Amino acid sequence: MLENNCIRIKSVAVIGGGLMGHGIAQDFATSGIPVKLWDTSEEKLTISIENIKKNMHFLGQNDLIDDVVELITPVSVFEKAVTGSELVIEVIKEDLPTKLDLFKKIEKIVPDDIILASNTSTFIPSLFADVLRAPERMLITHYFNPPYIVPLVEVVKSDYTSQAIVNKVVDLLKFCKKTPVVLDKEIPGFVANRLQAALLRESISLVNSGVANYEQIDQIVRNSFGRRLSFAGPFQISDAAGWDVISKIAEIVWFDLDNSKKLPKSIVDLINSGNLGVKTGVGVYDWDEKSSDDFKDMLLRGLIKINKRI
Ligand SMILES: NC(=O)c1ccc[n+]([C@@H]2O[C@H](COP(=O)([O-])OP(=O)(O)OC[C@H]3O[C@@H](n4cnc5c(N)ncnc54)[C@H](O)[C@@H]3O)[C@@H](O)[C@H]2O)c1
Repeated sequence: MLENNCIRIKSVAVIGGGLMGHGIAQDFATSGIPVKLWDTSEEKLTISIENIKKNMHFLGQNDLIDDVVELITPVSVFEKAVTGSELVIEVIKEDLPTKLDLFKKIEKIVPDDIILASNTSTFIPSLFADVLRAPERMLITHYFNPPYIVPLVEVVKSDYTSQAIVNKVVDLLKFCKKTPVVLDKEIPGFVANRLQAALLRESISLVNSGVANYEQIDQIVRNSFGRRLSFAGPFQISDAAGWDVISKIAEIVWFDLDNSKKLPKSIVDLINSGNLGVKTGVGVYDWDEKSSDDFKDMLLRGLIKINKRI
């Protein structure tokens, strides 16, 4: 629980203004928190700010755009970006050596009372603690795309992370109307990405065993249990179904579920041939500009509707 004497974090630096970073900066600024946004070039920062304006236009927040953008200071000089903010969040590519180098660089500049966070999707905070001078001020804040719409933030601490730091970050996230969940223990991929990985592994296996194709599986998930998942988690759903029923399914199915330790050849082949999905025009499906835009639009509108209903 937050201690009464906890003083709210009042300024944030976001390091990396790509897909997640620009959206995280937008989310803080929309709650009135001043943000310094850093990326490797002025051009990238200009794109980040344009993306924030587009997102806000899409959300129907046109009247707020000027105020929000004014609170975001794009800075391409690294030292200036990380200096003077109470919380520095790293949002660069998912590569451990690159992230560790960045944290070492940040620690050379900022004093030990500045909180450091990473938006990594997979790496446990102990890996960062190992290279930090003051590991008690480091934790993971794992946002979901798009971070200005999806409410949850997984907060992951290492054994070194101070409870006061966790409390301060949780307080800030709640102030920004997020739903922070602090995990009891660190684990690679945290909770959400492990659950998504389990679903994806079994889905790919079902395709490769000829049970259903990609489209059929997407249809089944979206139109059945996927519909419920915004309103009820797996334990609520199992309580509702009855554990006697769940145990019968488990008896027959669990032993037979895919438990491969590596990506299957079908997916490795996709990656090796440069077919990475929407961003390259081909993945499991074919994408052109219109179908990509329509998909993004449909997803965002759906997420906004769900936020309004819950
Ligand atoms: N994409 C998602 O859906 C998602 C969701 C949750 C978490 N994350 C995590 O957030 C982080 C950022 O992901 P993203 O999707 O925003 O990536 P991205 O590639 O869109 O953005 C990364 C940004 O970091 C900048 N950058 C600065 N220094 C860099 C360096 N040394 N090497 C590489 N890039 C550097 C790049 O210029 C780029 O603008 C990753 O750790 C990722 O795992 C991503």
